[in-house]
Amino acid sequence: MILVTGGAGYIGSHLVLALLEQGEKVLVYDNLSTGHIETIENLKQYGDLVFYQGDLNNYTYLNDVLSQNKIDAVVHFAAFSQVGESVVNPSKYYENNVVGTINLLKAMLNNNIKKIVFSSTAATYGEPVYTPIDEKHIQNPINPYGQTKLMIEHIMDDYNRAYGLKSVRLRYFNVAGADSKSRIGEWHEPETHLIPNILKSTFAGGKTFQMFGDDYETKDGTCVRDYINVEDLANAHILALNYLKNGGETNYFNLGTNEGNTVKEVFSMCEKVTGKKIPVEIKPRRAGDPAILVADNTKAKEVLGWMPNKTLEDSIRSAYKWENL
Ligand code: UFG
Repeated sequence: MILVTGGAGYIGSHLVLALLEQGEKVLVYDNLSTGHIETIENLKQYGDLVFYQGDLNNYTYLNDVLSQNKIDAVVHFAAFSQVGESVVNPSKYYENNVVGTINLLKAMLNNNIKKIVFSSTAATYGEPVYTPIDEKHIQNPINPYGQTKLMIEHIMDDYNRAYGLKSVRLRYFNVAGADSKSRIGEWHEPETHLIPNILKSTFAGGKTFQMFGDDYETKDGTCVRDYINVEDLANAHILALNYLKNGGETNYFNLGTNEGNTVKEVFSMCEKVTGKKIPVEIKPRRAGDPAILVADNTKAKEVLGWMPNKTLEDSIRSAYKWENL
């Protein structure tokens, strides 16, 4: 059985679905602070899923859940993930993301569970020194969100040396899209991400899409990001679990496509996919946005055998279908 923390959230739920489709038993532990019970209820029809509503900072309950179930490995998504909020309210991020993970690792070790796949982020690299970013790039986060994820990576290294805890840290770039059969999708409240925000502007009563900055040093003045499809991303987690199951050592990988798209390119693609003229206004730059973030994913391909195969257009298409339900 695989324990998925944060399995009621956007990326976690796509992994849960992929695991269930493979016939894997899944235990989701989620406090539902940002995830949705509707997602869990929906996922139950696809396989053997048990759900515990709990917080990682409730150590006693967490430890009980781990000791009452036969868990082979953990995939850890549960975290707050809004960069801007982390700057304004860092204690929320350090307490939930860092302290919560320390509790999780303690409960795992207490129950002799020593394999974990962890949601890390491109935000651990901070302002890029060169691009595309490989795993050797210096990790120097520029916001508390990125700091929490980097601290956890360091904690996992220490726990590996001391306790033999094996981890795979997956550093996501910009995750996009929804399940291609529209069973689940992206559901954040409030929504801050680019693609859902553009798509929401196509609906009656939707707000004018706000484009943050068109004066960056990029080919059209807007920020470049590497959009990785959520199903491709889920697949990388399955490969990471197999890697650990086969005795793989602690490791870390970038998950992106090696290709960047500007905000304007994403916007145009959304107009193409929806067939609509989308209202847009140019706003000042958003604080903390680097101009260019593109992954070098060679290592994940070579070591995990991962091969992302969905395009940006695929991601926008699946996201639009999901938003339209
Ligand atoms: N953008 C807009 N308008 C919007 C939303 C976004 O113009 O309404 C722009 C942003 O300014 C940025 C780009 O679209 O240039 C992408 O923004 P997102 O908010 O979709 O994604 P980020 O690149 O800011 O953040 C993502 C993850 C974070 C992670 C970060 C790593 O969502 O969790 O990458 O830097 F920390």
